[in-house]
Amino acid sequence: MPDNDSSRENLVVQPPTAHLPSIKQLEQLLLQPAVQNQPDSLSTLRQHLEYLRSIYNPPVRGAQRRGRRFVFSVDESQPHSPDPASSSAFLDGVSQQTQLEIIRSDAFEQSYALRWLSALLRVAQKEDVTAFFTSDESEAGDTRKHAFSSLIDTSAALLASCSGTSGAGVITRDFVFSTGSQGASQNFPDQISVSLTDRPLDNADFRSVGAQTWGGACVLAEELVQKPSIFFGGILTGSRKGEPQPFRVLELGAGTGLVSLAAAKVCEGIPSGLHPTVPEEIVATDYYPPVLQNLEANIATNFPSSTPDNAHPTKVKITTQALDWEAFASLEGTIASPLSPPFDLVLGADIIYETLHAQWIRKCLHKLLRQPTEETNPRFHLMIPLRPSFAAESGTMESVFPFVGRDSTPGELELVIFSKEIIICGVGASTQAGSSQVPFEDADGDDIVRYAYYVIGWGVGTRV
Ligand SMILES: C[S@@+](CC[C@H](N)C(=O)[O-])C[C@H]1O[C@@H](n2cnc3c(N)ncnc32)[C@H](O)[C@@H]1O
Repeated sequence: MPDNDSSRENLVVQPPTAHLPSIKQLEQLLLQPAVQNQPDSLSTLRQHLEYLRSIYNPPVRGAQRRGRRFVFSVDESQPHSPDPASSSAFLDGVSQQTQLEIIRSDAFEQSYALRWLSALLRVAQKEDVTAFFTSDESEAGDTRKHAFSSLIDTSAALLASCSGTSGAGVITRDFVFSTGSQGASQNFPDQISVSLTDRPLDNADFRSVGAQTWGGACVLAEELVQKPSIFFGGILTGSRKGEPQPFRVLELGAGTGLVSLAAAKVCEGIPSGLHPTVPEEIVATDYYPPVLQNLEANIATNFPSSTPDNAHPTKVKITTQALDWEAFASLEGTIASPLSPPFDLVLGADIIYETLHAQWIRKCLHKLLRQPTEETNPRFHLMIPLRPSFAAESGTMESVFPFVGRDSTPGELELVIFSKEIIICGVGASTQAGSSQVPFEDADGDDIVRYAYYVIGWGVGTRV
């Protein structure tokens, strides 16, 4: 279902029993003939589904950032202050949010919503109703047929998420990020929305972690959306113009693909790319086949034109690729496309949770992160949660990657940390996504999750 955020903002917050047409009226409503200049029954029902979705399957809005501070930065002017922009954006509409939460937790309202959705599906499958929508062979009839089948699909998906069973635990959510005042240009959209399907974790198989969207991805995606010039400077300033190849982005351990998809949507929003006819390239990688399959499906949902049967070039080409850090780290010989040529930007969210991860990733970056030139500074942006249970694993980052030296002593280029920030987020829908996101309590007793945000690139490290 397309995200219609403005309509959702204007919803009157009423419980389903008061807001929805009665179950008895559903058949009559569906069979209503279209009247010129009036919304047809399908759009009316779609609005009701939007309303139910806003209660029982709301979009994840931003990463709920509460504050941030630089622990290390080569740029002394970096602020060490809280992050007012994102938190204020999040506070907008809090009262409506609270009302929605009250309705959501009301068992009676929830059971009514379930009955209403089941009745809608039952009525929609009746012969006279199906015939009403499918008998017309004209172009207008085709459009109505399409709208009708999409209404059924949406109702079935909502029924699953309202009932809390979500079939086998599959859940589809929208992640919505406000671009704030940091948008790349006046033409940049006000918000960027990514629709993702998470699949259940298979507790017997640790490799299934990538089937869910983790909080770190949400925080990194928000950074990308709010500060495009930091990530896509090469496109925005035109400093890379005239180069034969497009701007290339790689994600390691992409999981459900939130970060890559947010990056693709940001690229799409940048008014002019490096080349008028060559799309920028994003390669989302992971190593576990079922995770890659889910990733491909999420890409197809957000970029239908990226499917092989539709060859229309867009401003960005996003593809998936199998990449196992351990195997790739020890790989010798030439690297094949799409992992070659090396990348202008590498991204990673929540990918350091075992002792060897940082070492493998450093070796992969050696082959995959482009060397700097006078005009370009390729960077790896990494967001990792600081989980108490994984302190040793996330600590390995700083034993594997040295910090950049503050003086400009010449030396051999290596992969060094240019900055490290701690970002503090509230525990909300975004951070609940992954199951082992362990919250801390802040001084006010609120649950928070801390993330370490590293920016890594080629430089000369600190020598002790
Ligand atoms: C905690 S999940 C994070 C997924 C996604 N980045 C997010 O934040 O939602 C870790 C990801 O790393 C991937 N991964 C783990 N070990 C890997 C390896 N050796 N090679 C490639 N990917 C790996 C997993 O499949 C999974 O998608």
